[in-house]
Amino acid sequence: MDLKNKIAIVTGAGSGIGKSIAKTFAKAGATVVIAEINEENGRNTAMEMKEEGYPSMYLNTDVSSSASVQSMIEQTNDQFGRLDILVNNAGLEYFTTIEETTEEQWSKTMDVNLKGVFLGIKHAIPMMKKQGQGSIINIASVAGLSAWPGLGVYSAAKGGVVQLTKAAAVENGKYGIRVNSISPGAIRTPLLEEQYIGSTNDPAALEAELLKRNPLKRFGMPDDIAEAALYLAGERSQFVNGHSLVVDGGLTSFVGELI
Ligand SMILES: NC(=O)c1ccc[n+]([C@@H]2O[C@H](COP(=O)([O-])OP(=O)(O)OC[C@H]3O[C@@H](n4cnc5c(N)ncnc54)[C@H](O)[C@@H]3O)[C@@H](O)[C@H]2O)c1
Repeated sequence: MDLKNKIAIVTGAGSGIGKSIAKTFAKAGATVVIAEINEENGRNTAMEMKEEGYPSMYLNTDVSSSASVQSMIEQTNDQFGRLDILVNNAGLEYFTTIEETTEEQWSKTMDVNLKGVFLGIKHAIPMMKKQGQGSIINIASVAGLSAWPGLGVYSAAKGGVVQLTKAAAVENGKYGIRVNSISPGAIRTPLLEEQYIGSTNDPAALEAELLKRNPLKRFGMPDDIAEAALYLAGERSQFVNGHSLVVDGGLTSFVGELI
């Protein structure tokens, strides 16, 4: 029960990685706020957790809206009186070259994937400062560390998340607040299957190529990321701050077959 009596918010917890983080935190003893723009999925996650015996609350949240993120923090304060952990996980991607990316796609990607993280940090800090402690975990991507053709704008946003994490860590360490990011590799979720692999001309070929390039010869699962988030959220990582934890099965360490 690493997170006993902790209050956590997980954004984008209606699906994939966020849902797995929410359930993993709950099993570790936390009460989890499911902050999600997709009302049906968000409510389903909260309901499943309640049925499994874990306390949770759903809040309809758009991470790209300052008013919505502020309300997410205020409602958590009203309900529980504190906020120990914030996971800025909500995200989306468009698989398209920089040349073909529209300005609308650029803005949407930046608003959700980068501004959403900024707003989460900005509005959580005052409450965590008052408490003298807090852990913020931002979900970046291996695409924020290396470049992938067709993911240029997503890469730019996620690279921004890695850097914003470091900046927030150095500004707020003195208040007892730690800020870290996780850079997942290819994880089996609707985002990977629909927004990335599924949007290419030859999904089977891309899937085979991704598997070939992974030293562990498998895709990651949402629980692989949730375990890393659990480590960063709790007491076991007390001296870890500003770190970007790569959880990719070795994908970004692999430069290609030589023999
Ligand atoms: N799946 C992967 O391979 C992979 C790899 C690297 C990084 N990531 C990152 O992990 C995070 C989670 O992705 P996932 O794969 O679980 O995707 P997913 O699509 O399964 O889940 C993302 C969730 O975010 C929610 N969301 C989108 N816009 C939102 C908004 N404006 N406000 C609130 N919620 C919003 C969606 O409704 C969805 O429930 C994302 O930040 C993604 O970029 C995923």
